[in-house]
Amino acid sequence: MLNDTVDYLNTFTDGFKPEIAIILGSGLGDLADTYAEHVVPYSKIPYFATSTIKGHKGNLVFAHIKDRPVVMMQGRNHFYEGYSMEQITYPIKVFKRLGVKTVILTNAAGAVNKSFRPGDLMVITDHINMMGTNPLIGPNDVEFGVRFPDMSEIYNKELVKLADAAARLLKINLRHGVYLASSGPSYETPAEINMARILGADAVGMSTVPEAIVANYCGLNVLGISCISNYATGVSTKKLSHDEVITTTNIVKDKFTELVLTLLGNIK
Ligand code: HPA
Repeated sequence: MLNDTVDYLNTFTDGFKPEIAIILGSGLGDLADTYAEHVVPYSKIPYFATSTIKGHKGNLVFAHIKDRPVVMMQGRNHFYEGYSMEQITYPIKVFKRLGVKTVILTNAAGAVNKSFRPGDLMVITDHINMMGTNPLIGPNDVEFGVRFPDMSEIYNKELVKLADAAARLLKINLRHGVYLASSGPSYETPAEINMARILGADAVGMSTVPEAIVANYCGLNVLGISCISNYATGVSTKKLSHDEVITTTNIVKDKFTELVLTLLGNIK
């Protein structure tokens, strides 16, 4: 399976060897368009699931950015689309095989922390998995990691420092926080958001955690950035819609892109 995927990508890209992988979440895919060298639709890649959600284009894009060889997922696949945990985290194993060392996971998220505002960017310092399952359930493949992997520092502290330094340079008020993932696709109830806050969450979303767990398991360095696209349910009286998420990410995407570009050059 993995051999087929990796062989296909190597042939398509003439052996492109990415060091950094970036998963671009809802409405954040433009970065890939700007720099694209090789664009491979997920639908053509053996064993890759295809994206069904507005704001997720569904291409794997290879490019040099700031002289760094990068592979970008223009949109991700989600658990709520009906894909298995194995399917949504499969790209992480492909990246590991391609030689990637660092993964930047991005998403749109709702603000649980009442001091956050839509349009803010948040670097993820830790997460809470409320998806009801774990992507590592099933036989363990020792090629990638151990049966009971440590998760005490999924989000690499050095990368958080680099994100902070980039934000300072750009005068961005970069928030820090804990990301809680629920399965979706329904947004949370007010009681669930209260619970999330009591549990220590600052932002809530429907992605990222499976990829972060698998990336950490595979020994990859992980950085997570959330684009706060809305107040979570009950934080404001407004009803939630995916269109609001897309509208806010569209407004914030230039700031997000600048942050990622500034960071990239400094990643070891
Ligand atoms: N909840 C869950 N997922 C989300 C949200 C939210 O408020 N905003 C963007 N993704």
